Amino acid sequence: MLAPTWPSLTKIPSTLAAVPHRVGFTATPDGFALALDDLLAAITSETRLVLLNSPAIPPGWTIDPEHRAPILDRCRDVGAWLICDDLYQRSLINSSDAAAPSFLPLIDEADRVISVNSFSKAWAMTGWRLGWMVAPAAMAPELGKLLEFNTSCAPGFVQAGGLAALAHGARHGESDLQAFRARLNTQAGRLTAGLKTLSGIFAPPPAGGIYLFLHIEGCPDSLTTATRLIDEAGLGLAPGRPTRNQASGGPSQRSRRANSATGLRFSRCSCRTGRPIGSSAANA
Ligand SMILES: Cc1ncc(COP(=O)(O)O)c(C=O)c1O
Repeated sequence: MLAPTWPSLTKIPSTLAAVPHRVGFTATPDGFALALDDLLAAITSETRLVLLNSPAIPPGWTIDPEHRAPILDRCRDVGAWLICDDLYQRSLINSSDAAAPSFLPLIDEADRVISVNSFSKAWAMTGWRLGWMVAPAAMAPELGKLLEFNTSCAPGFVQAGGLAALAHGARHGESDLQAFRARLNTQAGRLTAGLKTLSGIFAPPPAGGIYLFLHIEGCPDSLTTATRLIDEAGLGLAPGRPTRNQASGGPSQRSRRANSATGLRFSRCSCRTGRPIGSSAANA
């Protein structure tokens, strides 16, 4: 998996005794970048599953469409499954594309690829836990068991909410989504511009998602900093570390620059002080 990432993506496999291997992004002034060779080298015959979240939170990295084919080929070669967490597919920043690049147009029925998606973000239904996946048809019986015995089912009113969101979008040319994208652009733009004026802060601009992953010079650790910001400024940040490389067990060379970093959520929340900061932050 690529890291830093949303904690559940590492913790869920860990509960199943999987050993996550993290491949770190490179923090650059233009945004987080992926060294494709590092990822390809990390996918070996030992790899059962590659988890790819694009746009990725918290770094805001979004996959280069040219990177999809080599990743897919590598997964095919070693027989690994590829799970694409496409939750932020519609949450692109400063882009005229309708959605981030997806693996789905590249695959055929035999491919071990699953795309997971949700109403949480683009349709503002966070917490309603309604989503969908695109998976090989042969998995349907097993997925049926998983839904039946794991979640029972999505509550009726939640399903009705999803249907209403889609119907409304179809009738109104996805105007809500466009408004959401416009807000993301504004908030990300104000936040990155504002942070640039502060010395000691290194904040690669996000290409997608709703977070910004920043490095604050001289902070002992991100949890202490995040706690102080709550206490002193009423500002909530999600504390987080950059990548730990499975092989070395230490911070990877590439991501050292982002050490002691924090995820700043720029969508939707407001600061306790009421002071607008190009929107504010909240925990994940
Ligand atoms: C990357 C990522 N994947 C999955 C989820 C879970 O989404 P849901 O709200 O649909 O459970 C989240 C939620 O924040 C997320 O950020």
